[in-house]
Formats: sequence, structure tokens, C-alpha cells
Amino acid sequence: MPNDRKTAAPFITVPIEANGVPLYRQVYETLRRHILSGELSAKSQLPSTRSLSRQLSVSRMTVVNAYEQLLAEGYIEGISGSGTYVASVLPEELLEIKDKKQQRERGAAATPQTTLSKRGELLASFNHSYLCARTDKNFSAFHYGLPAMEAFPFDVWARLTARRLQRMSVSLFGSGSPSGYEPLRRSIASYLQTARAVKCEPQQIIVVAGAQQALSLIAQVLIDEKDVVWMENPCYIGSRNVFAAAGAKIVSVPVDAEGFDLLFARTASKNARLVCVTPSHQFPLGTVMSLSRRLALIEWAKRNDAWIVEDDYDSEFRYAGRPLASLQGLDAGGRVIYVGTFSKTIFPALRLGFMVVPENLVEVFAAARALSDSHSPSIDQAVLTDFIEEGHFARHIRRMRSLYAERQAVLVAAAKKDLVGLLDVPADEAGMHLVGWLPDGACDKTASENAAEQGIETKPLSAYSSEPLPRGGLILGYTAFSAGQIKNAVRRLAKVLA
Ligand SMILES: Cc1ncc(COP(=O)(O)O)c(C=O)c1O
Repeated sequence: MPNDRKTAAPFITVPIEANGVPLYRQVYETLRRHILSGELSAKSQLPSTRSLSRQLSVSRMTVVNAYEQLLAEGYIEGISGSGTYVASVLPEELLEIKDKKQQRERGAAATPQTTLSKRGELLASFNHSYLCARTDKNFSAFHYGLPAMEAFPFDVWARLTARRLQRMSVSLFGSGSPSGYEPLRRSIASYLQTARAVKCEPQQIIVVAGAQQALSLIAQVLIDEKDVVWMENPCYIGSRNVFAAAGAKIVSVPVDAEGFDLLFARTASKNARLVCVTPSHQFPLGTVMSLSRRLALIEWAKRNDAWIVEDDYDSEFRYAGRPLASLQGLDAGGRVIYVGTFSKTIFPALRLGFMVVPENLVEVFAAARALSDSHSPSIDQAVLTDFIEEGHFARHIRRMRSLYAERQAVLVAAAKKDLVGLLDVPADEAGMHLVGWLPDGACDKTASENAAEQGIETKPLSAYSSEPLPRGGLILGYTAFSAGQIKNAVRRLAKVLA
């Protein structure tokens, strides 16, 4: 034994607890603590594995494993033929942590002062809770934008998934294309051509992780800091925030009976780089943009080298009147980027949506997607392709259209019975929610908070507006709730508002 080595270490106690932590780990932690506190001083000898295992009433293997871990981390040294000793230079010393002050400083370094990019600072300033999933409890009426999950054919989805997994194709399990699974792009293109009169070829389709990602990619690819973006007001906060977070100057433009007020926009700011609209069913007011406004907007974009984002988030659910053609289908100049989602037609957690981009932008969007998260999960894309191609998608939409129409009718009838003078709830020919209008002067935020206290989820219209609105309103989602739930929630809402 080298003469600077000390003899046997003091008696070691390890309080072994049945706490789910492996025994060897408990022995390791205690020895390490003893070493760092100096109770086991540098160069002192540790008991043999046999004697420590007897002392602690654990197996010898437990102690061997603990010693091996300490050895690997440099806390102890094994001198062959002589025993095991606490290392003369501890790893913490190698890390130059010599005293308490340094330890404190090290603690502080573990949470370094955050220096964010300008874009990071901007992102940090946004509240994103409205986009977050709630796994803690069930959604209650009138949570908006949710499909009737109980009516989704999960048995079919499960069967299609199992079939894809069983007939494993190597190409589906490696990396896929950033633009999306080829057959799905073809299915989406043909669906959009017939159902929405979108003018597109499959290569213009980019499969994305929901409409939100499409908006985010658009901001990344087309928006520079200080660019002007025209947004409808009120509007979907997720869209406004995406462009604001990209550093754009947002100009809020009111929506009247014909939709986005282009004249107002042009007076408020001479021009814009991009305008984001929901022409088929304005979110949240439900207005349909008139043909003359659509044509004027396309003409403006063409003349000014600007982009139009058409967010067609819920157009599958039209209950009356002719299905409306998309704005994209009217555009001959390649200025419209069309955005759609399966969040409303399938279910939100699927995180699959699509965008139709002009041909000259296909490559740059594919690059942006490749650099962000490569591509959407291939198996889900393949299952969705089968779901569409085998007719389940069209059947499900047809069934949901009639279910949602019924649910809307129940809501309107219940409101006519119980909410007279408290909340005016006009019917709508489309969509997944209605706007209930409060009496003049009533504050919708207060109404929404009072409703929340009674377990009723209804968002105030003003939360979607950057300007004071002429009248307060509540957003009432109805698609995810049964007739009984809707009637019950209306009765409770009447008590809240009375
Ligand atoms: C108007 C509008 N646009 C976009 C989205 C985002 O949809 P996704 O779930 O596909 O990201 C939503 C979601 O509710 C929405 O209401």
C-alpha cells in the first residue's frame, strides 16, 4: 500500500429505503455524499465489498455496482491487491469547485441568464395557453372548434392502422419527404379540386402538422421584420400571433357583412406584404366574404406583389346554401396560399393539415419544413390516405354535417327558450360554433368569467379582437356536445347571465 494512503474508512451507514430507487444507487449516493462532505476523506480506504455488504445487509453485487459507478466517475480508485480508496483528486475539484461560493455559483450557472434572440424575446411575450391541450379534465360545453370525438369511427382507424403496420413497407419506416407522403398529397389534391374548387396539382400540396404549422412556415418564408400584415379583426389569435412573433406590423382590419374591409385596410396602411383571411366562414364572426371583395383582394395582391393566406379551417361544415368555392380557385396569379386542416374533420391530436402553395414556392416550403421537423409521421399519413381513399373520410364528413346541423338547431332552440333578453344566438349556415350576442354595454369578459365559475366554457369575443368591439359576445361551440349537454349548459348559462 502506498504510504500516503490512509487506513480503513469510518463505519458507513446507508439508510436503505424501499423508495423505488435501486439499492446500488442508494449505496452509491450515500458514499458519494460522504466523500463530498469530507466524512470520507481523500485517500482513505473503503471497506471491502464483502464487508460493506455484510454491514448494510445487502448483496455483495449491490456494493460492487455502487463501487463501479463511483470508480467510473472518478470518486474512488482501486489499487490492485490493496483495496479501494477515495480518490486524491475528486471530480468536483477537476471541475474546479473548491468552496461553497463556487458551488453556489455553479448552481446559478445551471440556470444561466437567458439571452434570447429578438425573435425569442417576442415569442416569450405571447401567451400560448389557448393552443395548449388540456389533459386534466374533459371539455365542457361550449368549448369551440372540437369535433364530436365520440362519433369518430375509431374502429375503422384502428383497423387501417393495424393493416399498415402489419403490411410493413420499408419506405414508410425510414425518413419521408418534407412535402408529405406522395399518395396523401394526391388524395388531398383531388379532394380539394372537387370539394373546394381549389386549382392545384399534387406537387403543390405540402402536408403539415396542422394549420398552425402552415401559418408558421408562411411567416418564416414570406415575412420579414416590420412587414405589414393585414389581419381580420376579430380573428383567430393563433394566426395573429404567428405573424406578430415574426416581427410583422399587424394592422387590424374590421369585418363587415361582406367580410374583410379592403377599403379600410388600404386607408389604414397604404400597403401590406400579406393578408390573412378566413373567407368561407370568418373566424369567429361567421361572415362569408362576398365575391366582389374576393376579386378585389386578388386584384390588390396581384398589383402589389402581396400574398393572400386563405385559412379554410372549417369549410367542410356547411349546412345550408351552396358549398362555396375557395378564394384560391379564383386566383389566376398565384398569389394565394391555401391552408386547411384535419383537426376539425378527423381530430385535433392527429396534427395533420395541408397547404397549397404556388408552384414557385414549393421548394422553399419543403426546405423550411425539412429544417424544422423534417416531415409529419409517415404512418399517420398513410392511414389517413387509406381513410380518404376508401371512402371513410367523405362518409364521416356527411354524417358529421347532419349531426352538427342538429346540434346547432338544438342550441338555437334552447337559446330562444331560455336566453331571451340575455343572449341573442342567431343560427349560422356553416361552422362549428355560434356567436351569442350580449345586450348592449354588457362586458363579455365578465360574462365569460362568471360562466367559467359554473363550469361553462365560453370565450369572450373581445379576446379575439385588438380593438374595442361595438358589442360583446360569447363564442359557443356546439359540435362536441350532445343535445342534453347543450340544453343543460344553456339553462345554467341563463342563470349566470340573468
Ligand atoms: C381559424 C383557425 N385557424 C387555424 C387553426 C389551427 O388549426 P390546427 O389545429 O390545424 O393547427 C384553428 C384552430 O382552431 C382555427 O380556428
